[in-house]
Amino acid sequence: MKFVLASQNKHKLEEMQAILSAHGVEAVLQSDLGLHVDVEETGDTFAENALLKAKAVMEASGLPAIADDSGVCCDALNGAPGVYSARYGGPELDDAGRYRLLLANMQGAKTRAAHFTSAIACIFPNGDTIEAEGICPGTIAFAPQGTGGFGYDPVFFLPELRKTYAQLTPEEKAAVSHRGKALAVFDGKLRDYLQGGGYGTDQ
Ligand code: IMP
Repeated sequence: MKFVLASQNKHKLEEMQAILSAHGVEAVLQSDLGLHVDVEETGDTFAENALLKAKAVMEASGLPAIADDSGVCCDALNGAPGVYSARYGGPELDDAGRYRLLLANMQGAKTRAAHFTSAIACIFPNGDTIEAEGICPGTIAFAPQGTGGFGYDPVFFLPELRKTYAQLTPEEKAAVSHRGKALAVFDGKLRDYLQGGGYGTDQ
């Protein structure tokens, strides 16, 4: 059975491929199929955007498709950057530019409370969908720390571990992260769905 991963982010792909292979599912990339579906993320929520991306790739490929949409929400900024995390500050900024902008916007904030959310959506050609969400609470650090991970990892601080995401190994991050939690929920739902015969095993 083949699933298409709608994401282009190699960090996300590695995490998802590990889960899917445990189900005997072959994960292929859009590019493996010669597809480059570019979806406008017009949803107001992470879940809506994940569904938009998965649906577009499923329709283009005719195969079950999985997408993830994620981002960081800061209480003092009314939930920003939120669904705009990847585009925060405009297209000219890179990861470091985006987290520096976040630090600048957080200067003087009354609370540094924040959380990461990951929404995963899987859509099958028969219209069935599986959705999962994971949230990781934390705070926005005062300065970047650590060199691991990607995106906002150097400024997302976990008070219980006294480390940022970027100071964790990939395994440590997966054990506590928004995506790790969403993938664990997704893993269980996919198992139930496949064992229930929801999608023919001859596909
Ligand atoms: P998406 O590809 O639209 O889901 O964009 C999500 C954006 O949120 C990414 O570009 C990153 O900036 C950020 N993001 C999502 N997950 C993580 C994470 O685990 N660590 C750091 N940044 C993340």
